[in-house]
Amino acid sequence: LLFQKLASDIEAMIARGSFRPGDRLPSVRTLEVERGLARGTVCQALAELEARGLVEARPRAGYFVRPRRVLTAPKTDPVPSRARRVPLPHLTDAFVAASAEPSLVPLGGTVLAPAILPLRQLTRLGREVLAGDGSVFTSYGPPAGDSELRRQVGRRLVTLGVRAAQEDIIVTSGAMNAMRLAVAIATKPGDTVAVESPTFFAVLPMLRDAGLLVVEVATHPATGVDLESLAEIASQRPLAAAIVTPSFHNPTGASMSTQSKRTLLDLARRHRFHLIEDDVYGDLYFGARRPRPLASLASPTDDVFYCSSFSKTLAAGLRVGFLVNRTHRAALARAKLSSTISSPIFNQRVLAGFLASGAYDRHLRKLRDALRRQVAAATQSIARNFPSGVEVTAPGGGFFLWVRLPGRRSGLAVYERAVEEGVAILPGHVCAIDDRYADYIRLSCGHPWSEALERGMCRLGEIIRAQ
Ligand SMILES: Cc1ncc(COP(=O)(O)O)c(C=O)c1O
Repeated sequence: LLFQKLASDIEAMIARGSFRPGDRLPSVRTLEVERGLARGTVCQALAELEARGLVEARPRAGYFVRPRRVLTAPKTDPVPSRARRVPLPHLTDAFVAASAEPSLVPLGGTVLAPAILPLRQLTRLGREVLAGDGSVFTSYGPPAGDSELRRQVGRRLVTLGVRAAQEDIIVTSGAMNAMRLAVAIATKPGDTVAVESPTFFAVLPMLRDAGLLVVEVATHPATGVDLESLAEIASQRPLAAAIVTPSFHNPTGASMSTQSKRTLLDLARRHRFHLIEDDVYGDLYFGARRPRPLASLASPTDDVFYCSSFSKTLAAGLRVGFLVNRTHRAALARAKLSSTISSPIFNQRVLAGFLASGAYDRHLRKLRDALRRQVAAATQSIARNFPSGVEVTAPGGGFFLWVRLPGRRSGLAVYERAVEEGVAILPGHVCAIDDRYADYIRLSCGHPWSEALERGMCRLGEIIRAQ
C-alpha cells in the first residue's frame, strides 16, 4: 500500500540518521508534491509512524522525530553443562491457555493475527477441496503425505538449497510432530540431547516423554548457540542429538551466521551427534535475504533432520508441517505410521492448493513487512512504557521480543498480574529446566499495532514498575 511504502521510506531514513531525533519531517504539503501522493495517503503514513512511536505531532508545527531511548540487549546467560531429566510437570498449560484467550491483549501467543493472513483465499480453497469426491473424509492418505503437497514443498526446498527428493519429505502434523519423529529415530531412551538455553518450551516435555536426558547449551540472544560451550559439552559425554532453531529462535529471535552454522555441522560430524533443525521462522526475515538453513549447508553424508511447518507463516490450525531426511526415510515413514498413521488429507490439500496457486511468496513478502513493523512498534512501545534497566532483544526476523526485567523482578508474578488485568504474555521461566529465566518475559508481536496493544503495554509497564 502507498502509505505503508511512504512510512517505511521515512522509517529507513530515520534509522540511517538522515532525520535525527528532534528534526522536523517535511510538511504534509511537501510530501504530497514531492511524492505525487494524495493528502490522505501522506496523513495515513504519518499516523502510522506516530503509532510506531517514531514521530510525534506538535500542534501547528508539524511532525518531529521522537527522541529515542536506547534499549540494551540481554547477554548470554551462563548455563550449567549437566545432563538432566526434565522435571514433571513442566508448567505450561496455563500459559498456552492464556495466549489463546481472545479477551486478553494478545502479547503472549505464538500465532499471527487473522488480519495479516490470507484467510479468504484459504477458505475458498477449503470449499473447493470439500466439493471434491469426498475422499478427504473417507481416506487416510499415504503416511508420508499427499503427493502434490510433497511436490510443492520439494520445489520450495530447492530454492532454499535443501537437496531433497520427494521421497525424502514426510508430511507431519506440524513441526512438533516432525521433531518428535526425528527424536524417535535419532535417539533411544536414556540418551542425552542438547537444546538451546533458553529453548522453545514445548521441546522440554517432549524430550522428557521420550525418556531422554537434556543438556542446555548457553545461547546468545542475538547470535545463537554458543559453539564453544556445545563443543565442551560434546567432548564430555556422548550426545545423541542437538535440537536447534538456527534462524529466528523462539524466544530470543537469535540467528546464527552462516559461518556458525557451518561450524555447528563440523561439530556434529566430529562428535557424531544428529542435528534436528527447527526452521519454522526461517521465512520471516526482515533483512534482504533469507538465512540459509543448516540443512542447505550440510554435505550429503551429514545427518540433519530438517523440520518446518506452515504454522508460523500461514495456518497454525491446519497442523501441517514436514520433515526432510534422506538417510532415515524408511524408518521415518514407519515412525509416522506408528504415531498418527497419516496427517489429515483435507488440511494437506488446502495447503497444496495454496502453494500451487503461487500466492505463498506474495503473502510472505507482505507478512514479513507487517511483522517487521509490528516488532518495531512493540520495541518503541517498550521504550515508552517500561522502566529503565529493562533489556530487550532486537531480532532480525520472527515475531518475538525477549525481555529481561530490571532488578530481578519475577516474570511469573508479572504474568499473573497481567492476566488479571487483561494482558497475555509468556513468563520466561518456562523456557528452561530450572528458574534461570525467572526475570524474563517473552512478548509476541503477531498482531498489527493498535491502541489496545499500546494500552496493554502501558499497563504492563505499570505492573513491572509496581513489582
Ligand atoms: C520454535 C518452534 N518450533 C516449533 C513450533 C511448533 O510448530 P508447529 O505448530 O508447526 O507444530 C513452535 C510453535 O510455537 C515454535 O515456536
